Amino acid sequence: MIIILMGPPGCGKGTQAKLISKSRGIPQISTGDMLREAINDETEIGRRSSFYMDKGLLVPDELILNMIKERINKKDCDSGFILDGFPRTVNQAEALNKMLDEMNKKISAAIYIDVPDEEIVERITGRLVCVLCGKIYHKKYNPPENNEKCSCGGYLIQRPDDRQEVIRQRLKLYREETGPAIEFYSKRKLLEKIDAAGLSIDAVHQRISKILNITS
Ligand code: AP5
Repeated sequence: MIIILMGPPGCGKGTQAKLISKSRGIPQISTGDMLREAINDETEIGRRSSFYMDKGLLVPDELILNMIKERINKKDCDSGFILDGFPRTVNQAEALNKMLDEMNKKISAAIYIDVPDEEIVERITGRLVCVLCGKIYHKKYNPPENNEKCSCGGYLIQRPDDRQEVIRQRLKLYREETGPAIEFYSKRKLLEKIDAAGLSIDAVHQRISKILNITS
């Protein structure tokens, strides 16, 4: 099962990918998390990506596509995977199709989690992420039991690209670049849209599970 999670920044792709990964036993592949890890590890990819990510711009395709190709060819992806934050442009969607053709694999569904802008800003500005395990919290909607720490003991931080001015840039690029990529899957009858305005994390997960039970 190959699932693509699409939607604006902060719509809940990472939160839902982790839940699907747990329930279906397939890995979550988040290009955002991979890039942040590369920045923390001070690798060449990390050094080149941080320039773009800090400004809310897209990281160049040459870096993203190599990273994805290597990752989806790993053994743990044999029975499927969840793509979170990729593809984000039509060019990336076309490149993914080519990679999957070569592997003789097919996309099961592209799930588009739609959330209005006002909710996006509230979700992103309230987000807390664990520095150790990457678990995602929200100050109001999914608060940690301990105010400052994750259940694993790691410290919780706000992401550096979750500043107001960067959020605006990320939303602008989302409309310009990812909008057409969503259309790409709609035209191929692979798109499943969830209107997630005001829906809780559990309610969105239930909708996704229903879609996956039908498409798998
Ligand atoms: P990335 O990390 O992918 O960021 P994003 O797409 O902007 O998405 P987010 O991680 O911000 O949000 P999310 O949808 O995962 O929401 P979350 O579950 O955390 O990318 C970061 C950067 O990396 C990009 O700007 C770009 O520079 C680069 N990059 C990455 N991929 C790339 C690519 N393919 N090509 C080029 N560049 C790339 O939830 C948000 C908050 O809301 C949390 O606090 C959560 O607890 C809360 N929440 C979730 N669901 C609900 C709900 N139903 N109700 C209430 N609160 C909720």
